[in-house]
Amino acid sequence: MDRASRFCRRTFLGDAWRTVAWGAAGVVTLGLAGMLRHVVGRTIDIPLPADLLERAGRQDGVQVDGIFVRWSGDTPTAFSLRCTHLGCRTRPDPASGGFACPCHGSRFDREGAVIRGPAEAPLARVPVRLEGARWIATVEADHG
Ligand code: FES
Repeated sequence: MDRASRFCRRTFLGDAWRTVAWGAAGVVTLGLAGMLRHVVGRTIDIPLPADLLERAGRQDGVQVDGIFVRWSGDTPTAFSLRCTHLGCRTRPDPASGGFACPCHGSRFDREGAVIRGPAEAPLARVPVRLEGARWIATVEADHG
């Protein structure tokens, strides 16, 4: 083997090794970023203005940004409208006061509990807090 061909093979192997090493580093970095996102999570605040809350009181609840807000005593409560089966958005069912999923027929009562599957878990509660004079609901960024 002459010197020129050994040099080319050495150069090729060095480049290939660097490519593999950078690729592996990228995969590890993306994996760690995904784990951190899962652990830390991301949330979004949804302000609940007075007129919306007044309407929620009058109509026994309102939808806003994928959540349903209803008064419970003197505190607004909220839960996600995302179906716990495969993630379709449920719709309020005025006849029952609960919620119906249009995708596979799950039904939930007015508190979000499952009354008919295939969903097995209740609709997720959404925390609501009072900040100054404003009520704010906090949802996961991917709540649907
Ligand atoms: S996604 Fe709601 S029942 Fe399947």
